[in-house]
Amino acid sequence: MKKNVILLFTLMFSAIMFSENLSYSPTPENLERRKEFADSKLGIFIHWGIYSMMGDGEWVMTNQNIKHKNYSKLAAGFYPSNFDAKEWIEIIKSSGAKYLCFTSRHHDGFSMFHSDYTDYNIVDATPFKRDVLKELAEECHNQNIKLHLYYSHIDWGRDDFPVGSTGQQSGRDKSKENWESYYSFMNNQLSELLKNYGEIGAIWFDGVWDKPDFEWQLEEQYAHIHSIQPQCLIANNHHKEIREGEDFQIFERDLPGQNTAGYSEGQKVSKLPLESCQTMNRTWGYNIVDDDYKSTKDIIHFLIRNVGMGANLLLNVGPGPDGEFPEEAATKLKEIGKWLDKYGDSVYGTTAGVIPPQDWGVTAMKNNAMYVHILSLNENSLSLPIKDIKAINATSLINGENIKFKQDKNGITLFFNEIPTNIDYIVKIEVK
Ligand code: GLC
Repeated sequence: MKKNVILLFTLMFSAIMFSENLSYSPTPENLERRKEFADSKLGIFIHWGIYSMMGDGEWVMTNQNIKHKNYSKLAAGFYPSNFDAKEWIEIIKSSGAKYLCFTSRHHDGFSMFHSDYTDYNIVDATPFKRDVLKELAEECHNQNIKLHLYYSHIDWGRDDFPVGSTGQQSGRDKSKENWESYYSFMNNQLSELLKNYGEIGAIWFDGVWDKPDFEWQLEEQYAHIHSIQPQCLIANNHHKEIREGEDFQIFERDLPGQNTAGYSEGQKVSKLPLESCQTMNRTWGYNIVDDDYKSTKDIIHFLIRNVGMGANLLLNVGPGPDGEFPEEAATKLKEIGKWLDKYGDSVYGTTAGVIPPQDWGVTAMKNNAMYVHILSLNENSLSLPIKDIKAINATSLINGENIKFKQDKNGITLFFNEIPTNIDYIVKIEVK
């Protein structure tokens, strides 16, 4: 009898523990971090690893059908002699970005940080022997840039990873697949990332789409992360609806709610902070023949279209095997930064516009101001169907001049002396 009672209590207790694990309520620090994140609008994504040596993107191992035992030899030749964390963070800062998201471990399974749980890491497996993540973390903290860490759920090298739809050529011994072992490896590495590099702004997961029906035990993993750093935001590029325990929502190569690139089918826009990641040229990891860079104007337009939806842009750079940013990328980052230096007031700290994005551009709100970002207009007037907001005055942020406007029951109409042709013609409307 006594035994049964004890058993009953044990079951009840574990049921409570289990359900507590699964129902996530973010801490006040986490909510504060979400707000800071949502205000920050621009982050820089960095895809860098031993794959950068091949100059064919971060998927080279799978795309070129390479066996893991051959691919892993790259590590012994990885010596990015020009890597300078201070310079990276200075360039990132000069772009106006407020955070960096760094690939701590990509699908190739190589850890770009010192890990006690595998020798396949930058300190133990390369002649470079430097923990680049440590150097980046220090510089981020010195220069006030938040550090986010990309972490792949897929591993194309380890035998214990239960192989999914990618990396099948790697030549692993399938009889050694062991999810429990792989899961605890990941959680141990996440503990290292969260304990050895100071405050981490976010963990950015990727790869669940490789085995969409697999039970990845995400909720428990998220709880593990939040138990170490409760403020650390968690996001997952799973291309699906957000899951319990996630703190912001990711869209890959698309504005929230759109699906032009094919990764976001049925992905409804949530109420969490939003982030859209995009490349500057075509690929994420360094690609030696990819000079197909978007223009600075197009990048700014994509940023502003995100801003109009209350979302951030995570803009990618793929540094080369020498540890340097491609020149085109560094130049564009500086150009974006110059633009943000002038017009950042209408970007940082804003929330989504009161009217949905339009062909001509977007609006964004901050305190008593409504910023109208005109990206492409063929007329010298613009009607905004805004009814429950009263406009007090309107000024051009481009030249400080007052803009003529009228407000009636249909909304606010702005009148310009000539058709705006700037990258982004911004009007600040003071509202009540
Ligand atoms: C995709 C790719 C991956 C890249 C990521 C960035 O998931 O598989 O290589 O890191 O997109 O968004």
